[in-house]
Amino acid sequence: MLKGKEIILGVTGGIAAYKAVELLRLLTKAGANVHVLMTKAAMEFVTPLTFQTLSMNPVHSELFNLIAEREIGHIALADRAQLFIIAPATANVIGKLAHGLADDLLTTTVMATKAPVLIAPAMNVNMYQNPLYRENETRLRQHGFHFVDPVQGMLACGWEGEGKLQDPQLIFEAALALLARKDLAGERLLVTAGPTREEIDPIRYISNYSSGKMGYALARAASRRGARVTLISGPTCLQEPWGVETIQVTSAEEMRQAVLVRSAASTIVIKAAAVADYRPKVRAAEKLKKTDQPLILELVKNPDILEELGKAKQGAFLVGFAAETFDLVRNARKKLTEKNLDLVVANDVSQPGAGFNVDTNIVKLLARDGSVEELPLLTKDELAEQILDRIVALKKG
Ligand code: PMT
Repeated sequence: MLKGKEIILGVTGGIAAYKAVELLRLLTKAGANVHVLMTKAAMEFVTPLTFQTLSMNPVHSELFNLIAEREIGHIALADRAQLFIIAPATANVIGKLAHGLADDLLTTTVMATKAPVLIAPAMNVNMYQNPLYRENETRLRQHGFHFVDPVQGMLACGWEGEGKLQDPQLIFEAALALLARKDLAGERLLVTAGPTREEIDPIRYISNYSSGKMGYALARAASRRGARVTLISGPTCLQEPWGVETIQVTSAEEMRQAVLVRSAASTIVIKAAAVADYRPKVRAAEKLKKTDQPLILELVKNPDILEELGKAKQGAFLVGFAAETFDLVRNARKKLTEKNLDLVVANDVSQPGAGFNVDTNIVKLLARDGSVEELPLLTKDELAEQILDRIVALKKG
């Protein structure tokens, strides 16, 4: 996702500096060439060797040593960067940047770069709420600096409150968003993900193996590409995507309500959720007791949300998934027609590496115009990009 991208990661002196190691790992794993700049204080917390080993680039901290070098001065680094991330960013560095001070390598390089700058603050809650800090942050935002807000939590100083560095995965997502093309700007995308649970009694339910990975990958990718995304998610273990409005639901009926309320305002609807087709006719109020007799559950059909959307279809581009174990194309085409869809993502879930609860998928994209595009084994993140590419192309006509 970041292949060939040149990124500077500035690390300043706070206990959260160790989390920058995880961020660096995510960036390099995605293909970026990362140059780490550390302040002197940062080196008190984590050694440069850790960052050097993981980035496979020398770590820079000395302003004057670098100027002496002909090839990699701070200006050369600043020019080459396509993105500058500062994580963690202390109140001190944010204060200096807000006032145009450049007294070390990190602040000097930020001042010299034309790349977007993404700041992930981390500090004591009282410092974070200090009006002087707030003014500095506002000033930087007004000058086009981007922020990933810290979160609530137990801080290293013993206080509890806002000021804890945001999760490295979410800082990574914010970085991806800054570098992505914005070909979905102006679109309002509704995505469903994960399974639904249909309760039998207070402790038992009917469900399926959907992990939500496919739908979450679509929501993340669409948000990066500029769409306003709402994700309606059944129960999963996944982290809510950064910048996406996420609504948690449990049953098919709850998912239906949430989808119907929001679908009218959406320009694209993608139904990646594996909605349970049936639910118990009666949900027992108390735990069902074990007896010597067989237990017979009567199931009734759940509403087909996608079919309902297809029937009432107005302007939105409607995308369904088809999870099949045989006759993939024939069954998927039937869904395309019967549910009045614009595109069907057909996955043969019996194939290894495809479908439920894995990180990859193998699909065919069937469009309303009769075209069938066969895709190879891809990660769900890669596939999400390809599905969105296809939607953009089909919408253009
Ligand atoms: O979540 P993961 O672990 O990443 O797995 C991804 C996935 C396999 C769940 C996903 O790729 C997928 O195939 N999702 C659709 C699964 C499914 O329910 O398929 P279906 O063929 O039964 O349904 C067809 C379409 O109708 C789907 O878009 C589904 O969301 C929708 N539907 C189905 C039943 C129902 N009652 N309401 C619906 O809206």
